[in-house]
Amino acid sequence: MTTARIAIDRTAVVAPLNRRIFGSFVEHLGRCVYDGIYEPGHPTANEDGFRLDVVDLVKELGSSTIRYPGGNFVSGYRWEDGVGPKENRPVRRDLAWHSLESNQVGTDEFARWCKLTGSELMMAVNLGTRGIEAALDLLEYANHPSGTALSDQRIANGSPEPHDIKMWCLGNEMDGPWQTGYMTADDYGKLAARTAQAMKAADKDLELVVCGSSGSSMPTFGDWERTVLEHSYEHVDYISCHAYYQERKGDLGSFLASSLEMQYFIETVVATADHVGNKLRSKKKIKLSFDEWNIWYLEEHQASDEVNDEWNFAPRQLEDVYSVADAVVLGNLLITLLKNHDRVASASLAQLVNVIAPIMTEPGGGAWRQTTFFPFSVTSRLAKGEVLRPRIDVGTYNTEVYGAAPLVDAVATADAESGTSALFLVNRSQTESIEVTVDLASLDASSITEAVTLHDDDVYAKNTIDDRERVGLRELSGASLADGVLTVTLPPVSWSAVAFA
Ligand code: AHR
Repeated sequence: MTTARIAIDRTAVVAPLNRRIFGSFVEHLGRCVYDGIYEPGHPTANEDGFRLDVVDLVKELGSSTIRYPGGNFVSGYRWEDGVGPKENRPVRRDLAWHSLESNQVGTDEFARWCKLTGSELMMAVNLGTRGIEAALDLLEYANHPSGTALSDQRIANGSPEPHDIKMWCLGNEMDGPWQTGYMTADDYGKLAARTAQAMKAADKDLELVVCGSSGSSMPTFGDWERTVLEHSYEHVDYISCHAYYQERKGDLGSFLASSLEMQYFIETVVATADHVGNKLRSKKKIKLSFDEWNIWYLEEHQASDEVNDEWNFAPRQLEDVYSVADAVVLGNLLITLLKNHDRVASASLAQLVNVIAPIMTEPGGGAWRQTTFFPFSVTSRLAKGEVLRPRIDVGTYNTEVYGAAPLVDAVATADAESGTSALFLVNRSQTESIEVTVDLASLDASSITEAVTLHDDDVYAKNTIDDRERVGLRELSGASLADGVLTVTLPPVSWSAVAFA
């Protein structure tokens, strides 16, 4: 059997765990909001029309920060449409997704939904069709306590307490020709800097995210980050990264190694940001907000005629159904985000419900977990304290896209307060189980409290509307701990977690 050795050094700390790494994303797109989190006629709906069965699953998923309301949607959004009496709210066309927006959910409702789910709202402002004034107005409406025109309007609309939103995105993917109002790096960098400067004049403690490239395959990747940051460096705190992965042309081996691309992406953005910082002689370090990441079968969507020519409310869009292989890759991407947590301080799995999502719903019916739900929820629940970078000694396999890829990847966390620790691992081999020996001596772990794996003999097994529990977590059999050494056997194409006390 193939073997691997991992050594965990308690002093090899990447960063203290910030729960913002477990963020997600709710966009007014398809059935994410309407018929997803919000369905007033549903048997589990509360007085705001929010489905409580979905709320329960969101809590179980363990997502922290939720980015809202887009995405591409935000670049045509008028936030004022979504506040005040619901019967007065206008129906608008959403050009980004070619659908109709009823505005029945807006800032106040979504802030209440975040409270229900125990999550933090991360708001995006429209820098596509709008600009500084609309951003400042929304900030005043959402965060100012009282006694101004817009804060009093919020109070009159039934939200007496300010929403106290700390993290704000300065537009979305402003380099993409698909974005309403897309711009050059120079134009966007100047606008972002001026918007950020004005928002911080209102509240210096805001945390602002400037748009990076909409993907590492954009022709301007790198140059975009450099130019935008040259304009905005001293006014912003984060630069965004967006990445979606998919299996292409049956090349599962390369797909399973997708996190190598994410690693390259992160290193490039960090190097570019630090280059600008050094050039500006700045003492500050820009953090990364990986605020869109996931598996997305985008090329299939683009090839299909799914985008309707009609104008409909909440059409079914981007409803990818995920396999075991997809979930293993997602678990590996989360391992990569954690390994880079010293710079990737915040991340959002895109998206949360129905739209490329871990949670699916049917109108009037149930809600269920996709395969990708499991690695996210377990990592979010078990990871605590500090993130540790393990040393991994393992062989490689050959991939078409990335060349040699290590067969195993892993990351660990340890929490001094509770005395618990956890290890998250993937086996990328399609054929071999791998016996892994892990030296945990520096962790003081005396027992295994949980050992689970996501694996199936059919790597393309999925949870579908007709078979909602086809795939789930299983016990990772045979895991044993003796004299500070853990031994586990990872099945092929699997994601696993082991927790210790
Ligand atoms: O998450 C789906 C879309 O992907 C978002 O709206 C956009 O920002 C990205 O291109």
